[in-house]
Amino acid sequence: MKVFITGASGFIGGSVAVRLLAAGHSVRGLVRDAEKAERIAKLGVEPVIGTLDDRDLLVAEAQKSDGVINAADSDHRPGVLALIEGLWGSGKPLLHTSGSSVISDDARGNSVSETVFEEETPFVVPPSKQARRDIDTRVLDAIGSGIRAVVICPSNVYGVGHGLNPRSVQIPFLVDQAKKSGVVKIVGRGVNVWSNVHIDDLAELYLLALEKAPAGTLYFVENGEVSFGEIGAAIAKRMKLGPVVFWPAEEAAKEWGEVWAYFTYGSNSRVNAKRARKELGWKPLRNSAISWIEEEMPL
Ligand SMILES: NC(=O)c1ccc[n+]([C@@H]2O[C@H](COP(=O)([O-])OP(=O)(O)OC[C@H]3O[C@@H](n4cnc5c(N)ncnc54)[C@H](OP(=O)(O)O)[C@@H]3O)[C@@H](O)[C@H]2O)c1
Repeated sequence: MKVFITGASGFIGGSVAVRLLAAGHSVRGLVRDAEKAERIAKLGVEPVIGTLDDRDLLVAEAQKSDGVINAADSDHRPGVLALIEGLWGSGKPLLHTSGSSVISDDARGNSVSETVFEEETPFVVPPSKQARRDIDTRVLDAIGSGIRAVVICPSNVYGVGHGLNPRSVQIPFLVDQAKKSGVVKIVGRGVNVWSNVHIDDLAELYLLALEKAPAGTLYFVENGEVSFGEIGAAIAKRMKLGPVVFWPAEEAAKEWGEVWAYFTYGSNSRVNAKRARKELGWKPLRNSAISWIEEEMPL
């Protein structure tokens, strides 16, 4: 298949591109500058220089592809609309990357949510994530425009990426701040739980979804779950640091900003990848997040 992927220089997009190439697909990838174009070409990806705001470019790339993966920015609506326009009436796949923060809460690190969301569970979307949820819905509605539209909703992704950006977001940021301050800081009491998934297992899911996901499907993606307190303790052990510092969310917000303190680190985001396991035969194989942090995580 000739696949067009956005976010080709990113953590998820780069890793997915490398996995697709290994499976025998050819990949054209959107990058924003010539230097990244040169570097992804070395991985075997044919670079396309542009941005998610280049509507005509996205329409043309989608038209000449056999399928599109959007892994650049889950919140960029005009880019998504351009990809839908390019694929209109074609029956080809469009895999759009969202994120499980669409079902996060405002626990501020101090409670565990009872709800583990499955794809059929009615969503309670926090106001700050409504625009992202609206984009997901627009993608799923593209089934009515003759597109095999699919939304992939990963939880906290860990592991080392295979493209230009080897680093994810949540765990590497805690490591960076621990390097700066000498302690691992966790929001609130750190009892809040996020599901998580290894990047290699996630890339495998994109491959399966590209090949056989039915139109109009959303997939949560996880291979386990863990509290941020446990993540913090594992990072401290790996870095040979003292006990984790539990930090009131409001204090964390002053330094990290409200979005990161309250949602990225203080919330619960528990999902069950039931549909991917059942419909796609997806079987995550990699070590759990805690084992990865303690045994494999590069410092
Ligand atoms: N990592 C996770 O744990 C996780 C979990 C769930 C959902 N997500 C979501 O998945 C998406 C990708 O995440 P990631 O971790 O792969 O992030 P990333 O490593 O920052 O990759 C994003 C890539 O998209 C490119 N990009 C961003 N905005 C663009 C634009 N307007 N035009 C063209 N290219 C653009 C960036 O290009 P440059 O290289 O030029 O900056 C970057 O290479 C994000 O929306 C993120 O919120 C991530």
